[in-house]
Amino acid sequence: MDCGDDTIDHGTHRIVEALDAHTQPLRVPVRLESHQYEVLIGTDLISRAGAWLAPILPQKRAVVITDETVARLHLPRLMAGLEETGIQAKAFVVPVGEESKSLTRYAGLINEILDHGVERRTTVIGLGGGVVGDLSGFVASSLLRGVPFVQIPTTLLSQVDSSVGGKTGLNARAGKNLVGAFYQPQIVLADSSALATLARRERVAGYAEIVKAGLIADPELFAWCERHGAEILNGEPAALAEAVKRACAFKARVVMDDEKETAAQDGRALLNLGHSFGHALEAHFKYDGRLLHGEAVSVGLHLAAALSVALGHCPEEDLVRIDSHLRKLGMPAGLDWFDETLSADELITSMARDKKVQDGKLSFVLLRGIGQAFTSRDVEMDTVRDVLMQEGCAL
Ligand SMILES: NC(=O)c1ccc[n+]([C@@H]2O[C@H](COP(=O)([O-])OP(=O)(O)OC[C@H]3O[C@@H](n4cnc5c(N)ncnc54)[C@H](O)[C@@H]3O)[C@@H](O)[C@H]2O)c1
Ligand SMILES: [Zn+2]
Repeated sequence: MDCGDDTIDHGTHRIVEALDAHTQPLRVPVRLESHQYEVLIGTDLISRAGAWLAPILPQKRAVVITDETVARLHLPRLMAGLEETGIQAKAFVVPVGEESKSLTRYAGLINEILDHGVERRTTVIGLGGGVVGDLSGFVASSLLRGVPFVQIPTTLLSQVDSSVGGKTGLNARAGKNLVGAFYQPQIVLADSSALATLARRERVAGYAEIVKAGLIADPELFAWCERHGAEILNGEPAALAEAVKRACAFKARVVMDDEKETAAQDGRALLNLGHSFGHALEAHFKYDGRLLHGEAVSVGLHLAAALSVALGHCPEEDLVRIDSHLRKLGMPAGLDWFDETLSADELITSMARDKKVQDGKLSFVLLRGIGQAFTSRDVEMDTVRDVLMQEGCAL
């Protein structure tokens, strides 16, 4: 190593620091009143999971829940790492997709796990995207009235969105995520190297939630996204780790403040920026894979900003800045993303169903600018309709 003009001591120190940065994960502490845990973010955490978990599991036994795709790609190295540290684990593999969050699938899985045999101190490890996270979290919360839970999220969306907040959920006949519990993990291992096998489209979907975090209350994060967005969509691990850390830290701040009720009153509700429009778009495309949640959110962010401009809350130049960031990366940034013309009335009816409407007014998360979201309970439906028509909807 050529240290140039540096002393050998200083040069060595810099090398050690660089190695450390490579092997030491970033950490986001989540401190809730009843429970504290950490989100660890870095490369190769799945292979090293045994080493991270051995000191904190109450018993060296675990059941791993994962889906077929993740099982093929990442389960062997998790199992090997657990075995190396003497943790006995048995894997349960569910089919890929939202269908695995059904009550039927849950019942089958929990029976299989009970047949296999578990004790109160056996840990449930969820290895996979948000579907596996929601399912395994609910299994952990309900198995023997609650066993320890470890989350290993493997999609960008689940690393930034499900790692913090403790929400678990199943779908019922009446709708998505209607059954569930708040249940906190012992630790979350967000492995950036796992995201290398993710389809670019899935990275785009997760990235929308990161941009959302910046828009809500972290203008520095949005500016960081403008500089590093392309690296994230290309799957570069260092940029991914940094983005996940910033987004998790942001969400942790919101969740912790909300718990203590010290947040600028709107608290968790702000996390729904872009989601009213997003959910209406998802409902139109019937959750059949044509439109991913994050893609819908990406369009939703643009629409929420456009509505904020129309209502006179947000300067037009901020809308332009948001749009140009999304479009530069090839992200969905408007209704022109779709091959069909959508109906404004259909979207509004869907939004009204999604939330309470009072006197013809809808509640929305709006922007005063980048990094300044607020909730408003009195947006006239007519204004929303006008904006949607301007954006290219038919009546
Ligand atoms: N609990 C929460 O706070 C929370 C937050 C956001 C979303 N969710 C839920 O999460 C779900 C969506 O999550 P998602 O987008 O992660 O979907 P997902 O779990 O279905 O994963 C998407 C696809 O990626 C595959 N996959 C996962 N990891 C991979 C990897 N490393 N490499 C290659 N392929 C991989 C999966 O097999 C699947 O086909 C929804 O059910 C939603 O309700 C929950
Ligand atoms: Zn979301």
